[in-house]
Amino acid sequence: MQMHDESTPTGLNTSTKKPWIKPTIIPLRTGMLNKVGANRQMNWQESIDGIPIKQLVEDYGSPLFVVSEKKLRNNMKRFKRAFASRYPDVQFGWSYKTNYLAAVCNTFHQEGSWAEVVSEFEYEKARSLGVPGQNIIFNGPFKTPRILERAVREGALIHIDHLDELYALENIAQGLKQQVGVALRLNFDTGYTEPWSRFGFNLESGQAMDAAWRIGASEYLQLIGLHSHIGTFVTETKAYSKEVQILCEFMLEVESRTNCQIEYIDIGGGFASMNSLQGVYLPPEQVVPSIEQYAEAVCTPLMELTHEREANGRPRPRLILETGRALVDDAESLVTSIIANKRLLDGRHGLIVDAGVNLLFTAFWYNHQVVPTKFLPGKPEESVIYGPLCMNIDVLRNSILLPPLKVGDTLLFTPVGAYNHTQWMQFIEYRPNVIMIDEKGRASIIRKAENLSVVTSQEVIPDHLRDPYPGGPLYNFSRYDNN
Ligand SMILES: Cc1ncc(COP(=O)(O)O)c(C=O)c1O
Repeated sequence: MQMHDESTPTGLNTSTKKPWIKPTIIPLRTGMLNKVGANRQMNWQESIDGIPIKQLVEDYGSPLFVVSEKKLRNNMKRFKRAFASRYPDVQFGWSYKTNYLAAVCNTFHQEGSWAEVVSEFEYEKARSLGVPGQNIIFNGPFKTPRILERAVREGALIHIDHLDELYALENIAQGLKQQVGVALRLNFDTGYTEPWSRFGFNLESGQAMDAAWRIGASEYLQLIGLHSHIGTFVTETKAYSKEVQILCEFMLEVESRTNCQIEYIDIGGGFASMNSLQGVYLPPEQVVPSIEQYAEAVCTPLMELTHEREANGRPRPRLILETGRALVDDAESLVTSIIANKRLLDGRHGLIVDAGVNLLFTAFWYNHQVVPTKFLPGKPEESVIYGPLCMNIDVLRNSILLPPLKVGDTLLFTPVGAYNHTQWMQFIEYRPNVIMIDEKGRASIIRKAENLSVVTSQEVIPDHLRDPYPGGPLYNFSRYDNN
């Protein structure tokens, strides 16, 4: 055992009296040393886009999600620049499933993004925000007949996932007596990512070519696009070069064999964000390629493989991207407050905070960056961060070095902008406010905290169950009542 008394952390005589800090007993355990040797310097962050976090919590409560509009716009501008400076015809489609808060979607739409949706709900949400059908890319294995017909009428870019959808589309087009341009979702092995054969038509087995033939033979359908989404958090840029090569080769093949004209190639999403995947030893700064590196990997082969087409007087196919997490993740943070401190049986320090996996679903696969929101003196020690749920799996971080924190102190989790608002759940606790800080540094709510009436609004109580105690509040339930 090692005793630390941090009341005079520097050991120097100073005239100003330092506050007393509770001594901590830290067991010496093997495995805690890292390559660098000593504990890492503890960082902290006091404000977001110029607003003190303390102020935000006073105004909007804790836990609190904070979105930076400036960061969203800057990310979108940088991504567009990276691709548009390397290829002449580029279009981004905002992946709704990554974060479909209306304010976030509209920020991306204002920056020129279309919508990429994967369900009836997402399609309806994009339309309700004012996105025209022609600017909606419709992916996903389940498109209800109702929404498929609407998408056809509204001119959405429909990406066919399976043969049953192809037949359904043909029936709809026939019913409407309309020629419908469609795209095929393809899956194949790039050699760098795990192939997802469950989505779309497989290329190597011939499924994809068969589907193209089938469309070519249709009176009502025309093949105008090719789509693939090769995976997610893909840190190997060569995977994208290979994807582009495979898509372009297939484009030439279907054009020559089925007489179609491919207008666009959609390479899906999957670029990694600046987050730390659990199990990855190196920090994201060393693992995650820059957007310019991704753009280079995509556009260089695409320029080469479409050169001849342009030389023959046909425009190069449009490049569509459905980037999700890489655009939004680092634009959002989660502020959470300490509810309690605990000493665990194995000697580790346990912290209970007011946000759990109900809000931060991505804690299951990321080690988010976690910092205090003010300078905290005191020796960092290994801690476990638990959420507030009465559930054993509610762990936000299994092991992290943190200085002593008091009840009411706050921690900042980043980046949390991707896949948390779409996968969070109303479980045990109400979901809190989400605010956005605009480009002028003003904060406003973009999703209100839930309350009892929000959570119970869809429930219906049958008449005979309206009263929980039909015999009166003091009714004596005996164990014979059921006989
Ligand atoms: C079809 C499709 N496009 C785009 C995305 C966005 O992916 P990411 O957030 O990894 O960029 C996904 C995510 O799963 C997807 O399934």
